[in-house]
Amino acid sequence: MLIASSLVLGLATLANVAVAALSSGCGKAPTITSGIKTINVGGTQRQFTIRVPQNYQNNKGYKLIYGLHWVGGRMEQVSNGGDTGSRGWLYYGLQVVANETAIFVAPQGLNGGWPNSGGSDLKFIDAMNSYIGNGLCVEQSQRFAIGFSYGGSMSYSIACSRAKDFRAVAVIAGGQLSGCDGGNDPIAYFGIHGIKDGTLNIGGGRSLRDRFIKNNGCSSMAGAKEPTSGSRKHITTAATGCKTGYPVQWAAHDGGHIQAAADAPAPEENGAASWVGPEAWAFFTKPELSTPK
Ligand SMILES: *[C@@H]1O[C@H](CO)[C@@H](O)[C@H](O)[C@H]1NC(C)=O
Repeated sequence: MLIASSLVLGLATLANVAVAALSSGCGKAPTITSGIKTINVGGTQRQFTIRVPQNYQNNKGYKLIYGLHWVGGRMEQVSNGGDTGSRGWLYYGLQVVANETAIFVAPQGLNGGWPNSGGSDLKFIDAMNSYIGNGLCVEQSQRFAIGFSYGGSMSYSIACSRAKDFRAVAVIAGGQLSGCDGGNDPIAYFGIHGIKDGTLNIGGGRSLRDRFIKNNGCSSMAGAKEPTSGSRKHITTAATGCKTGYPVQWAAHDGGHIQAAADAPAPEENGAASWVGPEAWAFFTKPELSTPK
């Protein structure tokens, strides 16, 4: 009897491992509340803002979503919606649409950037994953990163180097500014870029995307349609042929170097009217991304 129940318990434990990768903070009183935190990463003090869902439950494995700021940016511009105060901007438009089902984190880059020298910003990401997973209940197969410009470049770097720790990234108007150490593993990838981007041009954005076209086994997106200049719209295309669980998606818009692109008749950039947050959320919550890798 004792042996039989141990066996059942053992199998149940194995089954749990197979369906979820809950962090050590699960089932415990949370030790992290919303606000600004400082942690020591290899001797450097690093800061981040965290937003814990309302009605947080310690037995529910939450998504963990990082929103990375642009060059010269501040974490508050991601967590508070920048200068606009519009809810459509919060965490790149993801906070509202997530409806309290995700933990959001806006880390602060040193000197307002993500040079990731010697992998230092990746070590910061690793340290936050660990700290947050210990203090809150995180579903560890459901970590995501999104960022604009330098923050998009850092999200790309995460895709290159931390594909095993992250489920998907969304790179808005990114370039290769934070490096790409490794860069051979598959990970779900959503690239977003303006055809008129004069800061980090769309050709560079296509190249970043194409790394994951290759890694994820997708068919070439060389012929993916992009909007014409003056159309004031965007075109989102899903790559075909990708390995299940490793989709690639590409959204090109008729705009410049902006984070919250919107179609006409809204202005070119408009938090409330932007499709970026809702489309990034739809990508992150694709059913094929809901199961452990
Ligand atoms: C948000 O979630 C709550 C609780 O699950 C639900 O009742 C509500 O309808 C949701 N709101 C939206 C806008 O989806």
